[in-house]
Amino acid sequence: MLKFTDDCLTGIKEIDQEHQKLFDLVNSAYKELNDSETDKRIVCIDLLRELQFYASTHFEHEEAYMQKINDPELPRQKLAHASFTARMNTLNLVGLSDENFKKATIELLDYLSRWLFNHVIGSDTLIGKSQSPFAFTEKYLVGVQLIDEEHKRLFEIMEQANQVIHDEMSFDKYDEIIDIIDELRDYTEFHFSDEENFMKSINYPDLDKQLLAHSHFVEKLNEIDLDNVDNDQQGYLNDLLAFLLNWLTNHIMKMDKKIGAFYLNQKQ
Ligand SMILES: [Fe+2]
Ligand SMILES: [Fe+2]
Ligand SMILES: [Fe+2]
Repeated sequence: MLKFTDDCLTGIKEIDQEHQKLFDLVNSAYKELNDSETDKRIVCIDLLRELQFYASTHFEHEEAYMQKINDPELPRQKLAHASFTARMNTLNLVGLSDENFKKATIELLDYLSRWLFNHVIGSDTLIGKSQSPFAFTEKYLVGVQLIDEEHKRLFEIMEQANQVIHDEMSFDKYDEIIDIIDELRDYTEFHFSDEENFMKSINYPDLDKQLLAHSHFVEKLNEIDLDNVDNDQQGYLNDLLAFLLNWLTNHIMKMDKKIGAFYLNQKQ
């Protein structure tokens, strides 16, 4: 029997209610099976079908919720849900003797209840709690409004790219990806030019280091080979995004923050 304890709560009302209902369905199927006579078989099969249907609806809800809040765990959750669904789909109880029917059903229920409990505690309770690596958080603030706003926009464009990569509904992402890379390239150049002008305006002493880093990054952006994108879209873009995000966060933390510090010092 599955017990829905407080440890199972995600804190998201709709999801918690659906989990509770899934637990109930598994428990009812166990119960039905244990006092089952031959004519109870049909009730048990109905319950399993209901469980199958309810689980897939629930996964849809949960994944939509995670998509909405940009939860970075979404791809992992989708894989986990798919393996549950695959196991449920192997359910074939037609033509089995009573004994084999019971054996197969108990095996399935044992698997489902173990899976559900582990998954709810191990993965679902973390929904909404891990931050997207593309979140522009306070730690990235440089202290110059114009620069901070533009950095934020760069994070948003990358987040958008990340969503396209993981959007399983779109099979050929080529056009969308090209658009986003173009936008990222344009916006990066626009931002660098603003940032460089700002540094000039305050006579920032390390301007040359920034110019070098910026031009090197623009070179990297221009080296992006779009011919590769069509072959292995997911892999190529994942690597590319990881590189861009890493570069940007590093550059902000190690170099751009110094602009803000210098500016603040000069104002005082
Ligand atoms: Fe889940
Ligand atoms: Fe910079
Ligand atoms: Fe910057």
